[in-house]
Amino acid sequence: MQPEPDCRLCGLCEGRTNIVLPDGNLQSHVVFVGEAPGENEDLQARPFIGKSGKMLEGMMNDAGFQRSDVMITNTVKCRPPKNRDPTEEEMAACRPFLESELSGRSLVVGLGKSACRDLMGYEGKMRDVVNKIVRIRIGETEVDFLPTYHPAACIYNKEARTMLREAMDIVRGKL
Ligand code: URA
Repeated sequence: MQPEPDCRLCGLCEGRTNIVLPDGNLQSHVVFVGEAPGENEDLQARPFIGKSGKMLEGMMNDAGFQRSDVMITNTVKCRPPKNRDPTEEEMAACRPFLESELSGRSLVVGLGKSACRDLMGYEGKMRDVVNKIVRIRIGETEVDFLPTYHPAACIYNKEARTMLREAMDIVRGKL
């Protein structure tokens, strides 16, 4: 299930250039879920291809796997204005697409607060849950959920970098 090319289910349609659909190995049992497309992603219709994407890909490679080994997507498929966090309403409007993307997978990696809020219903500090796998239900599917830092947080935060790197090792062990 995918959004229609002219999807208008939420207000993000007003500012988008492109709808950004999942990328990587669409059959992988491991899925990374980010927050929302940024400027580069909106222009090129591919998730995680800007600065955060370079950080994410570099860490995957350091851990011994490739971006093409996993599926990569976002909680919402259109860029929020000025890269603000997606709202509850916007995430709810996009949720059926996310649920269909995650259906039948075994490990879902939540990159940062928005993904953890959307999928785990978690509103607290990332440091209290980071890299602790929990079992959650997403639609009809029960998955292992690995909450971790967003790669953007790793650009200036060494602790986040260490933890995201550790998350990549956990993923590597499950591929
Ligand atoms: N940040 C995200 O959360 N997703 C992207 O696709 C790019 C940057």
